[in-house]
Amino acid sequence: MTLKFEQFDNQFGARIHGLHEDRIIGQQLVEELAAGLTEHGVLLMRGGEISPRRLVELGRAFGELEILPEPDKRHPDHPEIFDLTNVRKDGAVVDFEEPQAVFLRGTERWHTDSSFRKVPCLCTMLYAVEVPDAGGETQFANMYAALEQLPDDLRYVVNGKRLIHSYVYSRANNPGRMDPMSPEEEAKYPAVSHPWVRTHKDGRQSLYMGGHVSHVEGMDLDEGRELVEEVLVAATKSEFVYEHHWAENDLVIWDNRSTLHRLRPYEISARRRIMRRVTVAGVDPVR
Ligand code: OGA
Ligand code: MN
Repeated sequence: MTLKFEQFDNQFGARIHGLHEDRIIGQQLVEELAAGLTEHGVLLMRGGEISPRRLVELGRAFGELEILPEPDKRHPDHPEIFDLTNVRKDGAVVDFEEPQAVFLRGTERWHTDSSFRKVPCLCTMLYAVEVPDAGGETQFANMYAALEQLPDDLRYVVNGKRLIHSYVYSRANNPGRMDPMSPEEEAKYPAVSHPWVRTHKDGRQSLYMGGHVSHVEGMDLDEGRELVEEVLVAATKSEFVYEHHWAENDLVIWDNRSTLHRLRPYEISARRRIMRRVTVAGVDPVR
């Protein structure tokens, strides 16, 4: 074991020690990182600057990187990097209602990344270039613990059910107005169905849901959405949540198979928040 994982207080999430900028990422290191991610759900690497090239290298060590749907948000030199920023190309901070801000505000809903894909991603790596002094934290919720402690009546509700996840739906329901998608674009993202209770390789189970969920398969839409909301509230109680307060150069890696996350609000049209993200594609369908 060459990496050390220092657990956060509530047994969810850990800080990584021993992964320096110049360390070569070999097979053993990747296996340790992957095991740490599966065990802790959220990993923090805090320290020196991480170059865009290194970020891509770290991501690639885990697997294929997803190229995200929005071409205008890709990093100019590394298309695998998604620039999540409230600073416009002209250098000014966004207006609250403009598409770039509305898109970012969409991540304020509890979600797991790319659950709208048939094979959703494995993990996301988010690197902080510039962060506000207040607000703009990221919260993570542990879906293993949430399922384990779900009240019996809700456990009964989720068992055996499947949820329909849809990018078209979640985009249309973004807080604020986004340009409608063209029929060609919509056709690229057909809705998919995933089990509400996810069974992982090691046999453990967690809830699998979030902001891309449009409804419960086979159930009346409104009735299903009410249940989804009720389960979400129970699953994101504070005892299952780690809130990350960002420092510049922080890299946070989260397991999208077993956690939910959301951005906390900040003064998006006054304070700068610049992040770089890579997303590691999944390999297995959700079971
Ligand atoms: C994301 C995301 C939240 C944040 O990058 O997938 O949801 O805190 N980001 O920026
Ligand atoms: Mn996200």
